[in-house]
Amino acid sequence: MIPSLTPRSLTLALLSAPLLTSAAPFESIFSIPGPPNPSAWFENLAVRPNGNILATRGDAPEIWQIDPATRTGSLLVSVSGAFNLTGISQVEIAAQQETYVFASAYIPAPFQVEPGSAKVWTLSFNGASPSVSLLKALPEAGFLNGLAGFDEGRVLIGDTLNEAVYLMDVETGTYTTPLVSMSGVNGVQVAPGYVYWANHNVQTLSRVSVDGDALPTGSAEVLATNQIDDFALDVRGDGTVRKAYVAAMYDNEVVEVVLATGAKTVVADNLSGSGSGLCTSAVFGRRAADRRVLYATVGQGGETVTAGIVAIDLS
Ligand SMILES: *[C@@H]1O[C@H](CO)[C@@H](O)[C@H](O)[C@H]1NC(C)=O
Ligand SMILES: *[C@@H]1O[C@H](CO)[C@@H](O)[C@H](O)[C@H]1NC(C)=O
Repeated sequence: MIPSLTPRSLTLALLSAPLLTSAAPFESIFSIPGPPNPSAWFENLAVRPNGNILATRGDAPEIWQIDPATRTGSLLVSVSGAFNLTGISQVEIAAQQETYVFASAYIPAPFQVEPGSAKVWTLSFNGASPSVSLLKALPEAGFLNGLAGFDEGRVLIGDTLNEAVYLMDVETGTYTTPLVSMSGVNGVQVAPGYVYWANHNVQTLSRVSVDGDALPTGSAEVLATNQIDDFALDVRGDGTVRKAYVAAMYDNEVVEVVLATGAKTVVADNLSGSGSGLCTSAVFGRRAADRRVLYATVGQGGETVTAGIVAIDLS
């Protein structure tokens, strides 16, 4: 999600060359029930070890759970004390419950983030029953956006407005700021030895090598241009990353990037089916049957549709 977009970056987007298109089959697997809600949008996704998808809502303080096998879903938790939810990621915690960290902000209207409203929360499962707790209010933060598990007990959280990435301890809420001068930081992802991020100001996807505390050990490399929101990394068994799948937010599509060359292909376009709408996040399935299926958010596609999840078959 983008809290504010400058006219310059809009111009860049409009002037960019058309991309190659290589359509992968995709279909809607879930929409929020009820009449069309043109304001609704899912912001970010995580997939549970059991294969269910957790989806944060940007227009409400809600996390929804969707089972892609049965294509059913429902409201999992309503977060009292939050307004708009942003990034979510699982975090490994030794010998403890299945735990996620997510962030919230107060975004009263598009592109308006209330200063001082940032909070970080945990969602834990005790069997099937979820519980939410406030981990830390961060009034000093700007807009907490992308979020990624870093190592046992710690997550990285991108702050778009303060142009920084924090490393937070999930037990205590204490944090360091290992990555600074991160202009436009939006999606943040981790692969062995590296932090990857999207910069929506200049629309680049970059990575930097990091040490065990996420401090940079080299210079940042730009891997691709003309990308903006969150993304999924295709991490191989040996930990290397060959491709990224980027949610191209306002383009209502998912773009595949070959990281070695920066070559891009639109794998799925017109995700909303209305010709417009947001796509803000993409994640791979975690069941044997859906490891090559990418789940992506759609929302704000006009008066006739509502927020939902599409499944893109990359097998
Ligand atoms: C943020 O959430 C509130 C409800 O908590 C909603 O009224 C508002 O429209 C949301 N903002 C956006 C940009 O969706
Ligand atoms: C988007 O998809 C819908 C449903 O397949 C189709 O009717 C519509 O023409 C498409 N719109 C654009 C702009 O491609």
